[in-house]
Amino acid sequence: MINLTFLCVAARNNARRLFLKMLDKRFWQNIIYVVILFVVCVTIWQISTYPEHISNVGVYSLYTSNTSTYSYPIHTLPFDDYHQLINLHNFTFTILNLPCNETTPLLLILVHSDPKNVETRNTLRQTWGRNTPLIKVLFVTGLVRRPALKQLLELENEEYGDLIQGSFYDAYRNMTYKHVMVFKYAIYHCPQAKYILKTDDDVFVNIPLMMNFLNVDLSPYGGSRMLFCTLKRKAMVLRSWRSKWRVSFKEYPAKTYPPYCLGWAILYSPDVVFELYREAQKADYFWIDDVHITGTLAGRIHVNHVDIDNLVLSYREMNNILHQPLAFNHSFLYGAANVKNKEIRALWDYVKSHHTHYSVLRDIP
Ligand SMILES: *[C@@H]1O[C@H](CO)[C@@H](O)[C@H](O)[C@H]1NC(C)=O
Ligand SMILES: *[C@@H]1O[C@H](CO)[C@@H](O)[C@H](O)[C@H]1NC(C)=O
Ligand SMILES: *[C@@H]1O[C@H](CO)[C@@H](O)[C@H](O)[C@H]1NC(C)=O
Ligand SMILES: *[C@@H]1O[C@H](CO)[C@@H](O)[C@H](O)[C@H]1NC(C)=O
Ligand SMILES: *[C@@H]1O[C@H](CO)[C@@H](O)[C@H](O)[C@H]1NC(C)=O
Repeated sequence: MINLTFLCVAARNNARRLFLKMLDKRFWQNIIYVVILFVVCVTIWQISTYPEHISNVGVYSLYTSNTSTYSYPIHTLPFDDYHQLINLHNFTFTILNLPCNETTPLLLILVHSDPKNVETRNTLRQTWGRNTPLIKVLFVTGLVRRPALKQLLELENEEYGDLIQGSFYDAYRNMTYKHVMVFKYAIYHCPQAKYILKTDDDVFVNIPLMMNFLNVDLSPYGGSRMLFCTLKRKAMVLRSWRSKWRVSFKEYPAKTYPPYCLGWAILYSPDVVFELYREAQKADYFWIDDVHITGTLAGRIHVNHVDIDNLVLSYREMNNILHQPLAFNHSFLYGAANVKNKEIRALWDYVKSHHTHYSVLRDIP
């Protein structure tokens, strides 16, 4: 860094002298020096200011181990941590299912779902969201106020046994409770899972390729320091009253958010889940869950985001698949964000009827 400053100062001084020597014979030679120095300075500056916490995609194996070692250090959490959820002190799971009791899943998928989205949950149950010994899928909701809906939810759970509900009302501003509850569930009720995927119910997960990604590009033994997602690098805090995402200065004083994961599909390793959970339990409540957890708190535990945007289908690619599937060849872990039930079914049909690549990274057919 000292060298860099020296070089840049030298470049500036050189430029000043150059101006006086306009008529000198060595004018062009000096121009070339200046240009070279300028390019070097800019390059070094770019490299040195490239955010450290953003890693390159590609070296997924960096994040894996070949022995299964991690176990959640629950004993380091405060007494009665189980019944605390951030600032709620009487927390319980009002609906709880324990599918990890009998198996050791490779992947635990916790799907944030609005209690009223029965249709969507049924679509997922019939497509990518099927439970298998290696994949456990659970739908995560909060409490509902309408008695009729409450009853429907209970009936749905009796039938499928794949819901989780926490003792807070399901609401937009309660999303952070839901996300931290997902961590709590993984830590206390599914500690065997090697990877944890937090997703939403309007998302398509390419399960066959995801399994190869975890087993081949990552490791069947699990990973560490993983926070794989679509990264939002620079987002302004929205202050307009018309915005659904309006945040007051009191809630969040800064002008921009730190880089964070878009919350619709985040793949975590258990150690990251645990550290984020511990931070979240101590931190003030902030309602935009992905910003808070994968931006602010991820910064505190110094975990690197890995942007896997290249493994997400764009809308254009999705339409290609749906309308002319033969021309399509790209490996994708997720469909585009906010897909409709109809599109989820179509993508599932596509995935089922096509060969799954053995590896995402090496693109081995
Ligand atoms: C795990 O990897 C290390 C080196 O990376 C190797 O020495 C060891 O034999 C491997 N263990 C297993 C069980 O594959
Ligand atoms: C928690 O629940 C207990 C009994 O269920 C009650 O006595 C206590 O006041 C509650 N605490 C809070 C903070 O709501
Ligand atoms: C899961 O395990 C817990 C305790 O370990 C037990 O109380 C519960 O009945 C088990 N549930 C199932 C579905 O096996
Ligand atoms: C969030 O949940 C809490 C606890 O159940 C509740 O008091 C609050 O009203 C909920 N927030 C909204 C916006 O509904
Ligand atoms: C799809 O991949 C195969 C081999 O992997 C290649 O031969 C073929 O040209 C590709 N098709 C398109 C449309 O890119």
